[in-house]
Amino acid sequence: MGYVGPAEAAPILVDGLQRLEYRGYDSAGIAVHDGTVVAIRKAEGKLGRLVAMLDEHTPAGSTGIGHTRWATHGPPTDFNAHPHTDPAGDIAVVHNGIIENFLPLKERLGESGASFASDTDTEVLAHLIAEEYDGDLKEAVRRAVGRAQGAYALVAMSRKEPGRIVAVRMISPLIVGLGDGETFLASDIPAILHRTRSILVIENGEMVDVTPDGVTIETLDGAAVEREPLEISWNAEQAEKGGYPHFMIKEIFEQPDVITETLSGRISGTSEVVLDGVAFPDGFVEGLDKIWITACGTAYHAGLVGKEIFERKLRIPVDVVYAHELRYRDPIIRPGSLTIAISQSGETADTLAAAELARSRGSRLLAITNVVGSTLSRISDDVLYTRAGPEIAVASTKAYLAMLIGEYLLTVAMGRARGRYTPAESADMITGLRHLPQAAEEILEGAADIAELAEAFDGAEDVYFLGRGVDYAVAMEGSLKMKEISYIHSEAMPAGELKHGTLALVTRGTPVVTVLTQGDVYDKTVSALQEVKARGAHTIAVAYADDADAHKHADRVIRIPRVPDLLSPVLSAIPLQLLAYHVADARGHDIDQPRNLAKSVTVE
Ligand code: F6R
Repeated sequence: MGYVGPAEAAPILVDGLQRLEYRGYDSAGIAVHDGTVVAIRKAEGKLGRLVAMLDEHTPAGSTGIGHTRWATHGPPTDFNAHPHTDPAGDIAVVHNGIIENFLPLKERLGESGASFASDTDTEVLAHLIAEEYDGDLKEAVRRAVGRAQGAYALVAMSRKEPGRIVAVRMISPLIVGLGDGETFLASDIPAILHRTRSILVIENGEMVDVTPDGVTIETLDGAAVEREPLEISWNAEQAEKGGYPHFMIKEIFEQPDVITETLSGRISGTSEVVLDGVAFPDGFVEGLDKIWITACGTAYHAGLVGKEIFERKLRIPVDVVYAHELRYRDPIIRPGSLTIAISQSGETADTLAAAELARSRGSRLLAITNVVGSTLSRISDDVLYTRAGPEIAVASTKAYLAMLIGEYLLTVAMGRARGRYTPAESADMITGLRHLPQAAEEILEGAADIAELAEAFDGAEDVYFLGRGVDYAVAMEGSLKMKEISYIHSEAMPAGELKHGTLALVTRGTPVVTVLTQGDVYDKTVSALQEVKARGAHTIAVAYADDADAHKHADRVIRIPRVPDLLSPVLSAIPLQLLAYHVADARGHDIDQPRNLAKSVTVE
C-alpha cells in the first residue's frame, strides 16, 4: 500500500492492508512521513498486532507505505516485517516478490561495510536505493532496480523528500488509485475500491512517481507513459463479508449467482455461445489437434475437468500439466496448438511462466481468469473472464465453479465450430448449463445437513476422496479443500487405484468420501466403495437425488440434483466445499486465512 495526500496516512494504509491481508498475513508494517521524520511500526503476526501497536501511538503524517508479508526470505518476525530501511533510515521500502540476486548483492554491500537488520531480500533494495540516492528518489530507484533481478513490485519513500513515493512493477502486480487530490498505491484493486474507482494498472517494467501534484508513469528506460484510468464497476460490498462468519462460506453461497453471471450475455438464441474476448482465427479450431492446460492448485483441478470434457466432446487430445512442472520441462508444444492457462488471480508466478513458455513455442494462449487486467489476461491472445467477483477466502470456491462454467462454454463454442455439436446437442448443453444455478441453490438449501456430517471427521487424522473420470477430478478438489483448511491429511485417488496400495491405510472409522455420479462407471466405483466399507471405513457418497442405490453402498449420502453426467462437477464440488468448511469450523481454524498459505502465490 502507498498513500500521498492531505489525510493522515496511517489509518488509510492499515485499512488497505486489512483488505489485502489475504495476500499474506504473517507480519505487517507501515512507514509514515510527517515532513521531517519517517516513523516505522511493524509487528510479526496478523494485522491485529500492528493495529494494537498503533492504538498506543499512531505516527502522524500524510505520506506513507505499508505491507502485509508472506515470508519468502527469513522467518516471520518483527525484524523481517516490512518496511525495511537503509542503516541511516533515509530510505524505506516495501516489496512483494523475490529479488533473485539478493545474496551476491548483500555480500557486495557487506564487503563495503553495510550491516543488515533482517534476513530479507527487501532490505537489500533499501540499501541499493540509498547507495544510488543523490537527491532524486525516482532516479535512485531506477538505478537500484537496474541492479536487481527477479519478479517483484516495490514502493519506496525517502526521508529527504516528504510527499513523494516511487513504485516499480517488475512482474508482481501494482495499481494506482486516483482520488480527489490524493493517490493510493496497492497490489490489488479491492484494497482501495471503497476510496476510488479510478484505477491505473501499472505494466511490467514501469515506474510510478507520486507527489502531491499527481502521478506520472514512465518505463524503466525513462520513456513517458500516458495511460487512461480504468473505471471499476465492482460493488465495494462484493469485497466485504456481507453478514457471513467467513468469506469462504459467503463465497460458497454466492455460487448460484456466479454461474449465472459467468453465463450471462454469452448465450445467443438457444444453441450458440458467443465469447467476448475470444477470437480464434478462421480455421483455427477446425484444424486444432492439441490442447495444453496449465495451472496450479484448484485451477489445475478445474483443468482436469476441462480435459475430460474437451476430450470427450471435441475429440482433441489434452495434456493438463501443473504450471510449475511445465515451465521447467522441454514440452513438445507446437505452433498451432492451444494452451489454456487457468488462474483465478491471473498473477500466479508459475502459471504466468508456463503460459509464456507455451506462447514462445508458438501456441495460441487462452486465459481463463477472474481478474480483469491481470497479468495473465494481458499476455494472452484470448481471455475468458470468469466473473466470480473478488474472491477473498484463501480456499478457492466460487472461482473454481466459474472456471468450470468457462470450460463448458468454450466446449460448446469450439464444438460448434468443429461440427461436433449439432444445434440440438448444443441447445441441450445450454439448457443444462442454465439449470445449474437453480440446482446449486437446492444443494445450498440443504447445507445444514452437510454441516452435521462434519461429525464423522471428529478426531480423523486421514481422509480419502475417491471418484472416476470427472468424479476423480472433483475428488481432487474436495481433498485439497479439506486439507488446506481442516489440516487433516487428505488424499484423492481414482477409485480403481485404491486396491493397488492405499487401501492398506484404511482402518475402522477412516472417513472416505466417494463422488458417485458417472453412470458409465457407476458399478466400478461402487466396488471401490465396498472395498473400503469392508475395512471399516466411514463412507460418505455424493450421488444424484434419484439414485435409489447409493444408500445401500455408503453410510451417508449427500444428494445433488440430477444433471447430465458431464455437468455434475459443478454440483458435486459444492457439498465437498461445505464439508471442508464445516470440518474446519468445528476444529476452530482460521478458515479464511489458513496457516502457511496465501491467496495469490506471486513467487516461484
Ligand atoms: C486452493 C487455492 C490454490 C489456488 C492456486 C492457484 O484453494 O486457492 O490452490 O488455486 O494457488 O491460484 P490462481 O488460480 O490464482 O492461479
